[in-house]
Amino acid sequence: MKNRQIVPTGREIELDATQQIVTKTDLSGRITYANRAFMQISDYAEPDLLGVQHNIVRHPEMPRGVYHLMWETLQGGREFFGFVKNLTANGDHYWVFANVTPDREPGGKVVGFFSVRRRPAAAGVKAMQALYAEMLAAERKAGPARAIEASRALLAARLAGTDYERHVLALQLG
Ligand SMILES: Cc1cc2nc3c(=O)[nH]c(=O)nc-3n(C[C@H](O)[C@H](O)[C@H](O)COP(=O)(O)O)c2cc1C
Repeated sequence: MKNRQIVPTGREIELDATQQIVTKTDLSGRITYANRAFMQISDYAEPDLLGVQHNIVRHPEMPRGVYHLMWETLQGGREFFGFVKNLTANGDHYWVFANVTPDREPGGKVVGFFSVRRRPAAAGVKAMQALYAEMLAAERKAGPARAIEASRALLAARLAGTDYERHVLALQLG
């Protein structure tokens, strides 16, 4: 069940406006819960997902820099908002606007994370697709050891003074 072996079809699946796609993970990003909408759109059954790393739906066109930023944000105890392109089991893809949040015990200790995804604003997908393509190109040019650094630098340059969260929230909420 390795996503690296899935060949993208280029076919896009669009979410309904009311659909919410939810997963929960442990601290290392292994899936501990997936709702029915996630299983349906991603084309996996529950046993394919539980205990499996969330990169099972990683699309090869998503820059590493975005996930680096996501984990940095989560490990800082903050929630992350972002546009994400995911791969289904048969190679189709879907874009979401994701809100990934630390999952805390009543005492405040972080015990995992959860993500709630909704239909993304079309203009946001268009803008982020172009930015992600640039980040991916910068990563490939820099090579594996310096990919993240190059990608994050390009992102910071393109955001010019604002930050990723403010940028994507403005794109999503208009
Ligand atoms: C709660 C949560 C939800 C996540 N959702 C996704 C997701 O929908 N798609 C995805 O590709 N990665 C998601 N990730 C990030 C993955 O764990 C992983 O960092 C990412 O796919 C990059 O994988 P790689 O390091 O193998 O390149 C999520 C992580 C967490 C903690």
